[in-house]
Amino acid sequence: MNFLTRIKPLEHASAHDGRRLKATLGWPHLMALGIGAIIGTGIYTLTGVAAGLAGPAVILSFAAAGLICALAALCYSEMASLTPQAGSAYTYTYVTLGEGLAWIVGWSLILEYTLVCSAVSVGWSGYASGLLRGWGVPEMFLDKGVIDLPAVFIALVVTGVLLIGTRESAVINFVLVCVKLVALAVFVAFTLPHFDAANFGDFAPFGYGAHEIDGKKYGVMGAAAIIFFAFYGFDAISTAAEEARNPRRDLTIGIVGSMAVCTLIYMVIAACALGVVPYEPFSRSSEPLAYALKALGQNTAAELIAGAAVVAMPTVIMVFMFGQSRVFFAMARDGLLPARLATVDRRGVPAAVTILTGVIAAVIAGIMPLDEIASLANAGTLAAFIATAFAVMVLRRRDPALERPFVTPLVWIVAPATVAGCLWLFSSLQAKTILFFFIWNAVGVGAYLAYGRLRSRLA
Ligand code: ALA
Repeated sequence: MNFLTRIKPLEHASAHDGRRLKATLGWPHLMALGIGAIIGTGIYTLTGVAAGLAGPAVILSFAAAGLICALAALCYSEMASLTPQAGSAYTYTYVTLGEGLAWIVGWSLILEYTLVCSAVSVGWSGYASGLLRGWGVPEMFLDKGVIDLPAVFIALVVTGVLLIGTRESAVINFVLVCVKLVALAVFVAFTLPHFDAANFGDFAPFGYGAHEIDGKKYGVMGAAAIIFFAFYGFDAISTAAEEARNPRRDLTIGIVGSMAVCTLIYMVIAACALGVVPYEPFSRSSEPLAYALKALGQNTAAELIAGAAVVAMPTVIMVFMFGQSRVFFAMARDGLLPARLATVDRRGVPAAVTILTGVIAAVIAGIMPLDEIASLANAGTLAAFIATAFAVMVLRRRDPALERPFVTPLVWIVAPATVAGCLWLFSSLQAKTILFFFIWNAVGVGAYLAYGRLRSRLA
């Protein structure tokens, strides 16, 4: 069989020469991982950036991106329930579309996960810097300085926490998810009474499509391509499939449940925020939710939200760093990346790759602007979503009788709609982002031809 099209058998799911991660997670852990991964910089910070691109019509951007993500989540659930092993979309692609495309998806996931860690670190820094400014910390050490030091700091702290081990990290994550949800409830409680429909007057100042002005894509779809960031993270749960105690049932509840809860919360938050402040100044704040409260004179509530964001947002970094190490683990175990990266210590923690990811994410967070990091992370994610939708369709054709614990409903509508929606969002990204994404994958193809093609376990 040609190396690009060789397919990993599904049965390999449970045969890994004893090199397995420990099964310690139940569905509440997985759902907390999901909500922990989904609610973060997207709603807390990028709501501002996206509002600047679409005006109040950003609510429609939320709807479009959320719908596409929900469709993708349905495809993910079927594949995750069939292939309960580390690696997420990379693994789904490997067992259906072959090694060549699996490599590209894995390489895109590495880009996605690393950049999400960076983007959320930068978003975290927006709120942390707001608080630190109040305590007189000099501007040069904050988010608008030459190097974003708080962002670098938080990326490294989370790396340290993950090195303690999965179980401990999942418990910490669970507590912090609760903090994040309470903070958003507080935001709604303080803003809803001040809702003013007049703020929705000039509803879609930049139109409904996506058009580029000075390197940025404006309009509802341009904003959707950025705000899409706020919705994903459920895919990180499926990278933990191998560590789920009852993968088939627990993964489905974890993925579908966390997606539904988060979508509902977002629509409410976005409507409240843009219903109390005009989108223009709101979009320029690096701590927009706190800004909206301050604009209402609610300074204490603003500090509470900022404090909660600072305490809880690192859960997102945690989940993606966790997912990243599992994708590396899966790719290295398949022989496509050096085996040293797959080494787990006594407690089942892949330390080398966790440290590598943490350091690279910290460096990027220190120097790159948020919207560019998030757009590029979105490009990698969209590639993985598209591949997963194809994987579902290919497997339905190839093996229709296979017992599927989770069955994507209306798959011949849902999967093609996922592909079309993701391509639409991809084409709405900034031109620079699309170019960089292709350069990244060209480098990846070179790495594959030089290494993975020859070292693959299937070779
Ligand atoms: N959805 C995650 C966030 O908003 C990546 O931060």
